[in-house]
Formats: sequence, structure tokens, C-alpha cells
Amino acid sequence: MNLKGRDFISTQDWSKEELEFALDKSVDLKNKFKNGIAHRELPDKTAFLIFFDKSTRTRNSFEAGITQLGGHGHFIEAHTSQIAHGESPKDMGIILSSYGHGIAIRHDLVPGEGNAYMREVAKWASAPVMNMQCDVDHPFQMMADLMTIREIFGDNLKGRKIAVSWAYAPSYAKPVSVPQGLIMLMTRFGMDVTLAHPPEYSLMKEPMEAAQKNAAESGGSIKVVDSMEEAFKDADVVYPKSWGILSMFDKPENALEISKKYKNWICDEQKMRLAKDNSIYMHCLPADRGFEVTDAVIDGPHSVVYQEAENRLHTAKAIMALTT
Ligand code: CP
Repeated sequence: MNLKGRDFISTQDWSKEELEFALDKSVDLKNKFKNGIAHRELPDKTAFLIFFDKSTRTRNSFEAGITQLGGHGHFIEAHTSQIAHGESPKDMGIILSSYGHGIAIRHDLVPGEGNAYMREVAKWASAPVMNMQCDVDHPFQMMADLMTIREIFGDNLKGRKIAVSWAYAPSYAKPVSVPQGLIMLMTRFGMDVTLAHPPEYSLMKEPMEAAQKNAAESGGSIKVVDSMEEAFKDADVVYPKSWGILSMFDKPENALEISKKYKNWICDEQKMRLAKDNSIYMHCLPADRGFEVTDAVIDGPHSVVYQEAENRLHTAKAIMALTT
């Protein structure tokens, strides 16, 4: 399978076979990394890593990853580049393509902007464009999450239940791309997805419709409830995290006031007991400890958050190696 030159903006853009191929590549690169086997598959290649928002895992998994593949990643903050003066995505896509081999972008904080921006860059760039998180999807996080779930439960996820739940966090209005990415990808791989959130925290229409279509095709399912407890019941995987109110990303103070009504949406040991005995707790991180989740859960026996975060490295490397 040849994926050279392919953009990776949403998992929905790739076939299931292509995603399986990338997961196999991630497993191979993880084994090589763990065993000290050289895997310099991108010698002398350059990837541009453009950030409109902060990052720990994404930035470092991409930078470390391309270095380990024999190439180099340029870290670019949007606000210190000419993007801040309004340079067009067309000009940037064409020019960076002439300097290097891949363009990765994080643009996740404003609903309606990031995905459209990346697709405009991709329209003009000859180098592949990779989505390091937009307003719609966080595909590299999703691949790491799926890799982690398969490491624990095996490749056949039919009949496995994942609870994707909103949780309270006072830190900031987190993007909606993680829950949206989860409901799209996990239904694609046959899982039974229960999405739980208070009424104000609906997701975008398109990812909801994509998840319903994926579930119909895979034999999985998706349902929406308004209780974290109901979602957790008999779950194999629980993924409680905070996200913002779609219509209020420009009014963070007002949104924070509304979220305070739901401080009881915290993942604690009592709620974990509703899930299966061998269930796993996942979070893309960073987590608001003490609000989204108690220390007892995130540091407890069900938590796989560090394995999940580590897999960001292996999946980023796999997709860069395959596309760049
Ligand atoms: N999970 C994730 O994307 O982490 P960062 O925001 O630190 O990149």
C-alpha cells in the first residue's frame, strides 16, 4: 500500500484498510524503538510543525518522532510567523512545500476554522498535510487511542463498549475534536459507543452523522445519554473528558459559569465500579486532576493514560513515515 503524499486531516479521509496499515506500521515502529533497532525511514526529510495552540504530547511526539526517523521537524508558532499578519494558507502551503516534505498543523480552538484552514493549505501544498488537532478531529490522538485499546483488548473490538463522556474542568474550554474523533473512529472499528454529556455540550452535526453511518456499516452502535453513570455501566473503556460549548468558545467566562452546574461530572472510583471489572480509563491529557478525574482513578489500576500518551509517538512516526 502506497500512502506517500497523502494528507491525514481526518480518520474519515482514509479507508479502514489504510488505517489498519498505519496501525500495523505503528506496532512495527514501536517494537523497533523499544529494541533499539534503527528505523531511519525519512533521512534528510523536513516536516514543518505549525502550532496555533499550546501542546506537550503532540509537539514532542512529532519532533522526537521525525528525528528518530532521520529527518528534522521545524517548530513554528503561528503567532511568531507571518500567519499572524494574515498570510494566506495558499501561499504558506506552496512555499513550505518547496522547502520540505510535510506540513503538520494544530488549529483547534475556534469552531469552524481549523479544519477549513488545513484543507485550504492541503489544496495548494504539494507536501502532505497532517492534522495535529483541529476543531473537528484529532486523528493522531485517535490512532494512538485505537492502538492502545487494541493492545489491551485485541484487534477485534466488536461488542466492546466505550463510554465517551463529558467531564467538568475549570481550566479552559477544551476543543470538541477528541470526543468527535472518538465517536467517528471507534464506531468504524465496530465498537458500541455511548456518548454522555449535559444538554449544552452537543457535538457538531457532521461527526455525529459520520458516527451513525460508521456504526451502521461496521455493526457497531452509537447512542447518546445525559448521565456519566449510565454511560459507564458495563463499559470496557471509559473516556471522560471536558469540552466546551460549541456556541460559546468566544465567551469563555459565560461558558465557565454554565459548566459549574455540572461539577459532579467527575470520574471517581464509585463511577468506575459501574464499568466492567477489567475496564480501562483513558484520557488524551492534559487532565484537570481533581475535577475531570480523581487521582485515585488516573493513578489507579484501570488507568492506561501513559501507555496511551506513549503511543502518540509511535502513531505519529508511522503516519509521517508512510505519507512523507
Ligand atoms: N493529547 C494532546 O494532544 O496533548 P497536547 O495538547 O499536549 O499535544
